[in-house]
Amino acid sequence: MQSPLLVPSMLAADHTRLAEDIAAIERLGIKWIHIDIMDGHFVPNLSFGPQTVADLRPKSKLFFDVHLMLDNPQDYVEAFIAAGADQVSIHVEPSYDIGVTLEKVRSLGAKPGIVLNPRTDASHIRPYLPYVDIVLAMTVQPGFGGQSFDNSVLEKTKQIDAYRSEHSLNFRLEVDGGIDLDKARICRNHGVDTFVAGTAFFKSDDQTKFLSEIESMF
Ligand code: DX5
Ligand code: ZN
Repeated sequence: MQSPLLVPSMLAADHTRLAEDIAAIERLGIKWIHIDIMDGHFVPNLSFGPQTVADLRPKSKLFFDVHLMLDNPQDYVEAFIAAGADQVSIHVEPSYDIGVTLEKVRSLGAKPGIVLNPRTDASHIRPYLPYVDIVLAMTVQPGFGGQSFDNSVLEKTKQIDAYRSEHSLNFRLEVDGGIDLDKARICRNHGVDTFVAGTAFFKSDDQTKFLSEIESMF
């Protein structure tokens, strides 16, 4: 099993001072930051663009975990990798050539990931599992921070984790949406190793404790 990893979501940071907020995260000893990209179409919201990633890149050594919530991710992976994304995760739901896009991410030097929404069955991502570094199971309908965790996703993370062991694959299994320490513990018991936390992390009055509790999960 992969070691547990806390990934704060930049969506919940102060958008007028992103550089300062992510520098503070780095000072805590956190290694990854989750960057949500939305197109106002695949999800009903807008967030950051490649310029945001490019401007933050020289200011941070964090691993940039970029989550594309786009109808046409194939048209944007190159721009986000050129801007400094270390990992680019793309959704399985829209119609485009997913295999080619994952390959493109890897050939451009970033780690590819596949994402599925709460109501998308795990069978849809199966063909891509040998080719990804991370699977992101959404635990809310994507688009907004601060929503409630969907318990029904736990069965699916268990299935994906079991498939990973059976096939000796070693992608990370990440959850995103409504994750606090309690939900993270439950997810850990259902095969998850990588925890995106927006609201709960940024609102926490002891972020150091938040980090150590995640890192000390079995
Ligand atoms: C939701 C985004 C999440 C969001 C999570 O569409 O993909 O990354 O920032 O925020 P919380 O932790 O507040 O649910
Ligand atoms: Zn996300």
